[in-house]
Amino acid sequence: MPQQTYVAGTAPGAVPVVGHALQMMRQPVRFMSSLSAHGDLVKIRIGPTEAYVPCHPGLLRDVLTNDRTYDKGGVFYDRARDIAGNGLVTCPFKDHRRQRRLMQSAFQRSRLQRYATAMHAEIEATTGRWHDGMVVDAFPELYGMALRTVARTLYSTPVSKELADGVERAFDTVLNGLFRQMFLPRFLRRLPTPANRRYRRNLDYLHATTQRLIDDYRRDDAEHDDLLSALLASRDEDGGRLDDTEIHDQVITVMAAGTETVAGTLTWIFHLLSRHPDVEAALYDEIDTVLGGRTPGWDDLPALSLTDRVISETLRLYPPAWLFTRLTAADTELAGQSLPRGTTIVFSPAAVALNEEAYPDEQRFDPDRWLPERVTPQARQAFMPFGTGARKCIGDLYARTEAALGLATILGRWRITCEPDADVRPVPLATVYHPRRLRLRVTARTGRPTAAAPVLPGLGGDAA
Ligand code: HEM
Repeated sequence: MPQQTYVAGTAPGAVPVVGHALQMMRQPVRFMSSLSAHGDLVKIRIGPTEAYVPCHPGLLRDVLTNDRTYDKGGVFYDRARDIAGNGLVTCPFKDHRRQRRLMQSAFQRSRLQRYATAMHAEIEATTGRWHDGMVVDAFPELYGMALRTVARTLYSTPVSKELADGVERAFDTVLNGLFRQMFLPRFLRRLPTPANRRYRRNLDYLHATTQRLIDDYRRDDAEHDDLLSALLASRDEDGGRLDDTEIHDQVITVMAAGTETVAGTLTWIFHLLSRHPDVEAALYDEIDTVLGGRTPGWDDLPALSLTDRVISETLRLYPPAWLFTRLTAADTELAGQSLPRGTTIVFSPAAVALNEEAYPDEQRFDPDRWLPERVTPQARQAFMPFGTGARKCIGDLYARTEAALGLATILGRWRITCEPDADVRPVPLATVYHPRRLRLRVTARTGRPTAAAPVLPGLGGDAA
């Protein structure tokens, strides 16, 4: 096969001082997906920082699978370390393989099957508070659900409402402050402005609360079978384990990485279904046929194949995690462009999600493009909402399981309609891509479903 040649280009429209930051913040996914018109590797400017965005799926794969040269670092990860320390998502190449080995056991399929029970309990608890005709604010509601779900899979028992609310508020401030902090020069970040003080105060609260939860958990003599117990018990071949600081960093990493992302996915799904009544009707049909009025369990997931395809297609068009950075660890060359050591690379799944070769009619929401008989190797290759290579999301199956159980539980019981006051422009400066306002009216469908299906092994796996 001839070697693919890539073309480098520059994005137009950079303005003095901020570069492309405003466009990026106002319309993140639209901006990122527009870049491929200017080349396969496109130079942009974020404030004072020049950065290169791989816009061809093959080129992005080359970057993400070469994590020794394209190491974690750059404006996003510098700030993400405030929150996640040197945890799995933020740690550099030199620490990664060991941490990943030690984390992997907590995310095995057999464990996910057990987490599905905790997920189910939280989804039931959240939707159990809904009543016929009620209107809920999609993202905050689903975010609360996702946060309590992660807490329950970490610590087995549900955390108190007061604590969950406090942590939710603190994460909200910190995650939404992260991008603002990312664009501020160091001296402005250090000024005692109200926003900087709020960011710091909430960050301190999160670290202190996380540590308190871990300490309480360790003092408790009870037998645990949850994510935290898996992390504490994990050993590599030579008996090495995660130390106390690493445990703290991993817990906060999982809480930060696994909540807004899932809430954003579900929120966009409800928006897309409201625009595609044919898909919506087929989805209700699938859920009714597979579940016959019961609530879903782990063993139902393989049969919920349209549910899985809807999740994939939503992640393609509305990738909640839309911006990450890398820093070149050595002088290198990409798409014929010399990149000195320390060059910033921006990775966005959105930059390759509308690739026309991979996705015919690329703008169309078409979950059936992921049907086994239709999906192509190019489509699979260009699908990177969870990243790829050694740094691929460790929680991808966790997220898909939670999203599928959430969707099937909700739609099995409620008819969901979007209120007319929706404003689906993205929240500017939010770390996770989600709409400004999407309110859902929940209308009871039939009688209450019966008990959940027995929890048995065997999830069908990713559609993509
Ligand atoms: C729809 C939901 C999710 C999306 C779209 C998503 C997306 C991503 C992406 C794109 C990466 C790679 C980042 C990079 O290469 O710089 C990543 C890494 C990671 N994610 Fe997720 N994520 C989701 C859910 C979760 C969940 C539920 C968890 C945990 C419970 C989680 C934990 C992590 C961790 C620990 C990493 C770092 C993996 C490593 O470097 O080895 N994520 N995620």
